[in-house]
Amino acid sequence: MHPAPKVRQVARFVTDATYPMERTPAEFGRLRLQAESLAFDTGILLDRIGVGAGWRCLDLGCGAGGITDLLSARAGPTGRVVGLDPDAASLAAARRWAGEKGLENVEFVEGDAFAHAQPPEGFDLVHERFVMTTIGRHRELVDSALALTRPGGVVAIQEADAGVLTCYPPHPAWDRLKAIVTTAFEHAGGDCFSGRQVFRLAVEAGLQQVEFRTCVVGTRRGDPLVDFLPQTILSTKPVILKHGLASEAELARLVDDCRRHLGAPTTVQTSVLVIQVWGWKPVDTRRAPTIPTPGFSVLSVDRPRRPHSRRFTPTRGAVDVAPRAGVLWSVARHE
Ligand SMILES: C[S@@+](CC[C@H](N)C(=O)[O-])C[C@H]1O[C@@H](n2cnc3c(N)ncnc32)[C@H](O)[C@@H]1O
Repeated sequence: MHPAPKVRQVARFVTDATYPMERTPAEFGRLRLQAESLAFDTGILLDRIGVGAGWRCLDLGCGAGGITDLLSARAGPTGRVVGLDPDAASLAAARRWAGEKGLENVEFVEGDAFAHAQPPEGFDLVHERFVMTTIGRHRELVDSALALTRPGGVVAIQEADAGVLTCYPPHPAWDRLKAIVTTAFEHAGGDCFSGRQVFRLAVEAGLQQVEFRTCVVGTRRGDPLVDFLPQTILSTKPVILKHGLASEAELARLVDDCRRHLGAPTTVQTSVLVIQVWGWKPVDTRRAPTIPTPGFSVLSVDRPRRPHSRRFTPTRGAVDVAPRAGVLWSVARHE
């Protein structure tokens, strides 16, 4: 088992009644380990969106850095990445980490998804990961992301779903810890099963061409994320104790038993399912023609996804799309 990376204490650490996790160096280390384990799949998400040079990107609820490093690499020196989080201690850890990595086009700003000083429609991409899982407020979060995205820009959401959080062979301590952690999140307003709801939320919010992808990190002894469940439990301890979900002594015993089981040579575990959903904010739909040509119907209104991309249209075949060329109408013949 790898110990969590050490992060020097740089600010006051907060535990509040409306947030399930502690904001401590151990939790920041857990978040970074999680981010690193998910980096490959997050890269696939960003590449499928087409994030590229010059993009203005926002990572809403970035915590100790979130995906700002991956955005930074793609946006390049002409792009800009903002990491927004309400927690000063998380931002201090994020700034230190970004400084060590030399991320020059990234800025970390204190703010809330629902109360911030960011420009409306000021970003090409607004992304959030695991914020819904920890605070709920599902629809409000999607609406907030949408309001910050320029017309034709992209909203991307990655949320957790504990449905596949499982361990083999089963163990009573592991099972009990899973039940405790999901209940603790619920008590604090979070939702460990938010992932499965995101696609529907995105469609209902009016995003277009909504895409859906899932990924999961599997672990066995020695893997970086093998201690995911015990570490999440420890970060959630104040909420667990506050709601009487377990005593301190019981938690300590369960964590020990669970770690012993996870350290066995043949135990395997799947962590939470990560559900990735992304879609395009419509441009002004008032400009949509009703029926462009007899025999044709409008399929979608879209902006080019990336500068100078080559798109296929049913009527014109492959076409080159100039950067910010405006609306591209996709039409199809009635069969
Ligand atoms: C589980 S962490 C995820 C951090 C980061 N997105 C990542 O994937 O590593 C959830 C983050 O949401 C932040 N958060 C909580 N309430 C928020 C709000 N109202 N608006 C924006 N972020 C919020 C927390 O401070 C925390 O950093």
